[in-house]
Amino acid sequence: MHRKSLLSLKHAVKHLPPRKKWDTRYAALHPAARLEPSPFVQASLPRLPAGGPALDIAAGAGRHSLALARRGFVVDAVDISWQGLRLAQQRAATTGLSDRVRCIVGDVEHGWLPRQNYAVILVSYFLYRPLFPLIHERLLPGGWLIYETFTLTQLDQPYHPGSTREEFYLRPNELRHAFAGLTVVTYHEGRHQDRFTAQLLARKPERAP
Ligand SMILES: C[S@@+](CC[C@H](N)C(=O)[O-])C[C@H]1O[C@@H](n2cnc3c(N)ncnc32)[C@H](O)[C@@H]1O
Repeated sequence: MHRKSLLSLKHAVKHLPPRKKWDTRYAALHPAARLEPSPFVQASLPRLPAGGPALDIAAGAGRHSLALARRGFVVDAVDISWQGLRLAQQRAATTGLSDRVRCIVGDVEHGWLPRQNYAVILVSYFLYRPLFPLIHERLLPGGWLIYETFTLTQLDQPYHPGSTREEFYLRPNELRHAFAGLTVVTYHEGRHQDRFTAQLLARKPERAP
């Protein structure tokens, strides 16, 4: 899409409720756009076991759900936007992964996640703190958490993604503290390509301590 049209779309959706805002954005997205997993997810994939149930929270157009499915996981892709998940479903169908990606339209800010435990839970560019304990609970023993989103440093940059509300940005070391019950495999906070994020790859202990 033309840059000017993108900017006016960004302005137009600013005051919509979240579901409509995201539906509008995904409806305008070219079906072939944003297929690549983020570099952090890409680098984390080889460390995961090959297969099992996985959950992609706020999956959007499904770039990470598809990457997990390609690695052999059976993925629940949850998002508030049916337009985003429609793209995810289309992409799963065209790549022969339909039977490994289940798209679920749902609002996780109602303290809800599918009633199942997962070998992998992935959260990318989404932050809703009250969900942290439920994410921990839904991980199987030995399960993996992959989490990346913006830190407050991003707010000081000329580019910030949509909202300027501080609550949508991580405080220093926040993910580490929030998931202190997990064993950290890698953690890095800082500049990653063109953005400031925290990246956590962690595992739930096989047995409760
Ligand atoms: C920045 S996008 C990230 C999408 C995807 N994780 C990725 O990295 O490509 C944020 C996503 O959060 C979803 N979202 C926002 N509020 C939500 C909610 N309350 N419940 C579920 N999904 C939500 C949006 O629809 C959008 O797809």
